[in-house]
Amino acid sequence: MDKRLAVVTGGTRGVGAGIAQAFAEAGAQVVVCARRPPETPLDGVEFAPLDLRDRPAVHAFFDGLPRLDVLVNNAGGAPHRPLAGTDAERHARVVELNLTAPLTASLAAYEHLRRARGSVVMIGSVSGTRPSPGTAAYGAAKAGLENLARSMAVEWAPEVRVNTIVVGMVRTELARLHYGGDDGVAAVSRTVPLGRLAEPSDVGGAAVFLASDAAAYITGASLLVHGGGERPAFLDAATVNKET
Ligand SMILES: NC(=O)c1ccc[n+]([C@@H]2O[C@H](COP(=O)([O-])OP(=O)(O)OC[C@H]3O[C@@H](n4cnc5c(N)ncnc54)[C@H](OP(=O)(O)O)[C@@H]3O)[C@@H](O)[C@H]2O)c1
Repeated sequence: MDKRLAVVTGGTRGVGAGIAQAFAEAGAQVVVCARRPPETPLDGVEFAPLDLRDRPAVHAFFDGLPRLDVLVNNAGGAPHRPLAGTDAERHARVVELNLTAPLTASLAAYEHLRRARGSVVMIGSVSGTRPSPGTAAYGAAKAGLENLARSMAVEWAPEVRVNTIVVGMVRTELARLHYGGDDGVAAVSRTVPLGRLAEPSDVGGAAVFLASDAAAYITGASLLVHGGGERPAFLDAATVNKET
């Protein structure tokens, strides 16, 4: 990554901070953008304030860069909000952050990436590959993001490669809040074949790989970083073949 410039959206905390750190450790110049500055700034990582839902501001940000080799569309997420009794407007905001904003940023970054023969890495989620009760719009947006990446990869080849990392559960600052303290995190970890949640650095390593020359022939691909995924629930509910 020497002398390459990487932008990581939402790189101020959580998964994005792990990705920003991995690029910095690989020798890239890294810029992270989010609405608020990081509480724990990373060495050698520059911060730029940006609301990714503000399209003119996103274009102005990318236009102001001297060059760009890698765009990691990481900013995303959603509050738990079951569908019944809610207003579609609130779900549209979730789609805007998780699907429209990565498209906006990619379009704004395209000319830079084309000139540099660079790449886009989308941060997807296992929620986009299975039902996502409680975060339905988020799951739908992440499914759409993976499909968007595949179309973008075809339209922008051969100059720009576009890939998705399909992320499972990650041990971020918010994991204890999401899963119910240390006991909740431990219980949830036992459901993962590798026996633990991902660290943000696990996702960072995969992102650096996809952006690197080692992945020069990989585009339009999805890389599962989920520790083996989810054991099918029916296996434990079935009354026969318990040993499998
Ligand atoms: N954590 C997991 O277990 C997990 C699992 C699968 C996939 N993922 C994916 O990984 C990515 C990061 O998740 P995370 O858990 O690290 O989330 P997080 O801790 O909530 O961090 C989200 C980041 O995005 C920024 N952000 C949010 N809204 C923004 C906006 N409108 N404009 C600019 N920046 C914005 C936040 O900064 P500001 O709030 O200051 O703007 C923050 O830097 C997401 O795409 C998520 O879907 C996470």
